[in-house]
Amino acid sequence: MSTESACQPEHRKILVTSALPYANGSIHIGHLVEYLQTDIWVRYMRARGHDCLYFCADDAHGAPIMLRAESEGISPEQLVNRIGKEHQADFADFGIEFSNYHTTHSEENRLLAEDIYRRLVANAHIKKYPVSQAYDVEKGMFLADRYIRGGCPRCKAEDQYGDNCEICGATYNAGELIEPKSVLTGSVPETRDSEHYFFHLENFQSFLEQWTRADHLGAQVSNKIQEWFEGGLRDWDISRDAPYFGFKIPGSEDKFFYVWLDAPIGYIASYWHWLKQQQGEVTLDQVRASWAEREIHHFIGKDILYFHALFWPAMLEGAGYQTPEKVNVHGFLMVNGQKMSKSRGTFIQARTYLDHLNPEYLRYYFAAKLSSGVDDLDLNLDDFVQRVNSDLVGKVVNIASRSAGFINKKAGGVLSDELDNPELYQQFVDAGVSIGDAFESREYARACREVMALADLANQYLAELAPWSLAKEPGNEQRVVSIYSQAINLFRVLVTYLGPVLPKLTQQSCEFLGVAELVWEERQNPLLGHSINKFKPLMQRVDPEAVDQMVGASRESKG
Ligand code: 2FM
Ligand code: ZN
Repeated sequence: MSTESACQPEHRKILVTSALPYANGSIHIGHLVEYLQTDIWVRYMRARGHDCLYFCADDAHGAPIMLRAESEGISPEQLVNRIGKEHQADFADFGIEFSNYHTTHSEENRLLAEDIYRRLVANAHIKKYPVSQAYDVEKGMFLADRYIRGGCPRCKAEDQYGDNCEICGATYNAGELIEPKSVLTGSVPETRDSEHYFFHLENFQSFLEQWTRADHLGAQVSNKIQEWFEGGLRDWDISRDAPYFGFKIPGSEDKFFYVWLDAPIGYIASYWHWLKQQQGEVTLDQVRASWAEREIHHFIGKDILYFHALFWPAMLEGAGYQTPEKVNVHGFLMVNGQKMSKSRGTFIQARTYLDHLNPEYLRYYFAAKLSSGVDDLDLNLDDFVQRVNSDLVGKVVNIASRSAGFINKKAGGVLSDELDNPELYQQFVDAGVSIGDAFESREYARACREVMALADLANQYLAELAPWSLAKEPGNEQRVVSIYSQAINLFRVLVTYLGPVLPKLTQQSCEFLGVAELVWEERQNPLLGHSINKFKPLMQRVDPEAVDQMVGASRESKG
């Protein structure tokens, strides 16, 4: 929607997801770029009256989770339950509001994975053939490349990963390593054959060529991935041998679905779990139909694009499930211009951040830097302090804090019956069209810039009229009340626009303004003759020392 009509905007049924975090590690600020980006979008769509649901889950399966549980002496189920709780607490404390947060190790997900698999088999999209793979005899387990190390076949550097060399950058097969060793036991792996199940992606070549160009990905991403089609699409191995933590492939003895097969299905499973909470019994056929009734929007990082732009739509299409409307892709997080690093103290866990700083600072800072592109985003810690203090505390909150005292002391907390400058107010209202467009198209940096330009205008308005000086001369009281009332109304519009970004500030502002909520469409109607409440500080300045302490704690943390 690029224009705002007088009538209600069309009511859309939307289903939004963020990528499912693995259940064997903590959430860090790199992850948060995506969850905050998604949460802001969901809050904006809800603010515009759409029926917008937001689902996520822990990605619970795979060998790393099985091995980590083993090393802790607990079952994988115990591990994923523990980590799942930790993840949910982190998300909640950052104000990320899911409709439901589930796990891929669930009955809903098993039934869906089996259904999709059976439909793919029935439609001749699954093949079986043997593959040769490294096998750790001592552990009794086939080894993924990451569990084998040895000498680089090109530069001969020792102790390199099974698929690429960190020294010379070569990529190769684990079989080419010099003196390969299992990372798990140190033994020399054998090569053994095992029958695997493959998704025949080639069947979807023309469907995907068309789908990836049909505005589901955005032009930048769509253009970039066309090279993937050159030379044809390769089969995708969707099976893993036992021992493995996952779902058994129906009809097989000891084969499991590869974690990446059932992970995105977890999006639907989380929705199903939610539907059951709302409606009681919901069958598989009903969830499939209900999924098809919603516009599906995925938010992902560019590292998992292949899965979401090729495998996932192809699987859904091949199984007769609704394909996504949009796959929104973002870049990685850099800190101070570099990759996050433990030794620099910039590998910051969500919990470490929360121990030191207000989550709304990060919500705003990320929003102020996010665009719809896939470029990496830089969290510069000095700029973070400066930007939050200058924009939120110095510009936005300041308008309310300098205006509230007079209204409360001299006007009994009641705003004037008329605005001092209706044209300026209308300018703020009109700006909502462009700001709204920016949110919907994920151009949050532009939305924030436009809001801050309005905040500058509001501060300029106050500075020019200097009501604090007018108040010193008798007879000006009513004018001063109306100037401050205007300022408070401008503040209300600004916070309405920032609502998707700053839920806590919004809630506190509602208490101050004496309103239940800030509704996007209601910004048209200023608060006149309306009682406000005592002003309590809405946001403290970022303390640079707290940032330093967070960096110090991150350097020391074990995570
Ligand atoms: O890359 C990851 O962290 C995966 N756990 C993301 C899965 S997203 C979806 F497909 F489930
Ligand atoms: Zn090398």
